[in-house]
Amino acid sequence: MIIVPQDAPKLPSVTVSPSGEIVENISVILICSSDANPAANYTWYKEGGQTPLSTTKQLSLPSIRPSDSGVYNCTAENELGIRKSKHLRINVKLSPSAEIVEDSSVTLTCSSDANPAANYTWYKENKALPLGPEGSHHFTSISSEDRGNYFCKSENQYGQINSSYVFINVQYAPKLPSVSVTPSGEIGSSVTLTCSSDANPAANYIWYKEDDESPKASGQNFTITDIQPEHSGSYYCVAQNSRGHQNSILQLDVVAGQFDAPHS
Ligand SMILES: *[C@@H]1O[C@H](CO)[C@@H](O)[C@H](O)[C@H]1NC(C)=O
Ligand SMILES: *[C@@H]1O[C@H](CO)[C@@H](O)[C@H](O)[C@H]1NC(C)=O
Ligand SMILES: *[C@@H]1O[C@H](CO)[C@@H](O)[C@H](O)[C@H]1NC(C)=O
Ligand SMILES: *[C@@H]1O[C@H](CO)[C@@H](O)[C@H](O)[C@H]1NC(C)=O
Ligand SMILES: *[C@@H]1O[C@H](CO)[C@@H](O)[C@H](O)[C@H]1NC(C)=O
Repeated sequence: MIIVPQDAPKLPSVTVSPSGEIVENISVILICSSDANPAANYTWYKEGGQTPLSTTKQLSLPSIRPSDSGVYNCTAENELGIRKSKHLRINVKLSPSAEIVEDSSVTLTCSSDANPAANYTWYKENKALPLGPEGSHHFTSISSEDRGNYFCKSENQYGQINSSYVFINVQYAPKLPSVSVTPSGEIGSSVTLTCSSDANPAANYIWYKEDDESPKASGQNFTITDIQPEHSGSYYCVAQNSRGHQNSILQLDVVAGQFDAPHS
């Protein structure tokens, strides 16, 4: 008879593959590993998230984004117990002209080859920013106002050097569109409905009429020539981009024109 000793999981080790610099869009695998008998099952978590990211030994991030930056940990569990790993910090570095989505968490990291080691300062358009650990600047929730050009200065006792600019383009879903109609709708005249929304990238616009599922027009301006009473009603414009959509309603009233002779 073979007696196999049974053990609760040992402290899980966490590793990142590849081990080098993590730049956006590369494929990254986090591996959790623990000795246990019977074999452990694994669960991955990210800070701030209550729900597990994965219940596999390997957490795969096939196209890593700056918003994947953060602290990860894993647990290894079998019938005899559960162990939690140490924290694993992932920093996704930006490539120049990075496209970032509003509200995501972003860390700017500066590195340089210097001896003795350099210290770093991040600037946005010549204004120094407060620094986090290791010369990084962290946005917990980046906003459209953070859009702009950034660079970092690295400095040691022998000199300083400034990096080239990185343009941070913060993308966001369309804001509530403003809608207007000009001129007011007199029978027989031509009116233009206009829709405008702040969005990055720029929004596309589609016009609908109440209860009619097929779009009336696309584009910011919707012109109705020779307006008639049946054109009156509610119109809505949908502004959309790759990040989301928003709509606004406009009421079009058709009135008898002052120069119109009564129809007979
Ligand atoms: C990363 O992927 C996104 C979406 O596919 C793309 O828009 C962006 O240009 C990519 N960035 C780099 C540096 O390849
Ligand atoms: C670590 O894992 C636990 C779950 O066991 C989770 O509640 C906690 O938020 C995680 N901490 C971090 C920093 O990821
Ligand atoms: C992991 O193993 C424990 C103990 O055997 C079990 O209670 C738990 O449901 C398992 N979890 C997963 C995600 O398989
Ligand atoms: C780097 O930029 C800072 C801030 O604008 C400036 O004070 C400094 O002189 C620059 N250094 C070099 C070497 O260009
Ligand atoms: C960075 O290093 C320079 C040169 O050694 C020093 O003068 C400066 O005070 C340091 N700055 C910070 C923020 O530590």
